[in-house]
Amino acid sequence: MPMTENSINQLKPLSFKLDAENKISLGGISLEDLVAKYGSPLYLMCEETIRKRAQAYKNAFDNEYPNALVIYASKAFNNLAMCKIMAKEGMGLDVVSGGELYTALKAGFPTDRIIFHGNNKSKAEVEMAVENGVTFILDNLLELSFIEAATKKLSKKAKVMIRVTPGIECHTHEYIKTGKIDSKFGFNLEDVEAVVERVLKNEDIELLGLHAHIGSQIFETIPHRDTCRVMLDLYKKTKDKFDYEMPDLNVGGGLGIMYQESDDPPEIADWVKIITDAVKEFAKEFSLKEPRILVEPGRSMCAPAGMTVYRVGNIKDIPGVRKYVAVDGGMADNVRPIMYQAEYTADIDGKVGSSDTENVTVAGKYCESGDILIRDIKMAKAEAGDLLVVYSTGAYNYSMASNYNRANKPAVVLVKDGESHVIVERESHDDLLRNDLVPDYLA
Ligand code: LLP
Repeated sequence: MPMTENSINQLKPLSFKLDAENKISLGGISLEDLVAKYGSPLYLMCEETIRKRAQAYKNAFDNEYPNALVIYASKAFNNLAMCKIMAKEGMGLDVVSGGELYTALKAGFPTDRIIFHGNNKSKAEVEMAVENGVTFILDNLLELSFIEAATKKLSKKAKVMIRVTPGIECHTHEYIKTGKIDSKFGFNLEDVEAVVERVLKNEDIELLGLHAHIGSQIFETIPHRDTCRVMLDLYKKTKDKFDYEMPDLNVGGGLGIMYQESDDPPEIADWVKIITDAVKEFAKEFSLKEPRILVEPGRSMCAPAGMTVYRVGNIKDIPGVRKYVAVDGGMADNVRPIMYQAEYTADIDGKVGSSDTENVTVAGKYCESGDILIRDIKMAKAEAGDLLVVYSTGAYNYSMASNYNRANKPAVVLVKDGESHVIVERESHDDLLRNDLVPDYLA
């Protein structure tokens, strides 16, 4: 539920509409027409929602702390069109692999606004990033040795921020916690000084600052405030020890979104204010210049923009036990329920708000009993042929999709103002064979 008049926190994308027959449209186009044109399952992305959320971050910083850069964490949803939208909105881009970086470069994303993450970057990835002037989020000493070698080999300079595990715990799923001490990412607090020293000694490498990311789908704000304190304490120690004030501070992403109507995450503007207030306060306390603030939201930029549309197929009723409503997708296009026990909300097109409801379990079509999209949801009575939509699927759905059971990944369609554009084509069976080879003796 929107908490304030200006709230953009809502379960459904901003251009979501219902007509008099409870039929859904997105971006001014009915689901029926979209599925008739592009098939199902179908990922839909509302461009207005993506842009409004990017602008919410940007406006909040412009109001509170203009010396900032909002960086979209593209692992949430990365493709050429998304990189273009983010570039146009003035965002930076966080990439975590050669593949994400390649996509960004092909989209013409300004390289001075790209940062490169990863706890095990390869030599080839490091060279690609040095070649293109991308900023490193330096994770470990092996990577530093690769950067040192690449700057020499390519006669280029590199910019780095050092990733720190700040030892902050927050309430989110175990797999998506990253800021606690037992983490595969980054340097522990006590190791930072030695790394700073080594980087500062290298004339080919510019130290921009430190980075921390404490986790994802976080509803609390205190952990981010605490992170700012831990980080600025390190800025103070670096200043005292090396007479160097690091210009940038990156406090990661992690703001949660609504997957259920009852979810109540902070507004983007409120989250930004917690961080900017904390940085101002601790910079003052430690007698530091206020650094440029970088944040890296992924999910909160695009999850609410997405909906997945499925066609209902078989319905299996086991009286007194459970009723399964099977759809034409499942864990191959949304692995989050089986991977994180993630919970989603769904509706049946044409029956939204109907009082004729029942408790069902929405099952996927893949060959695994655990392929359940939503367990025990109260939903309008579904019949074979109905369209079923699942909300909040704009982040970590397409980007984590697989070809399990030789599934064809669905198309992604961007909608806005009565127009729809395919931004990722549906895979064909032939796409699945593209990399298959048959040794001669089997031919
Ligand atoms: N920065 C870093 C260093 C990260 O590791 C992440 C997410 C982000 C930023 C963006 O976080 P966000 O604003 O999206 O919470 N696949 C999981 C989420 C994994 C998040 C990994 N890192 C999921 O589907 O919930």
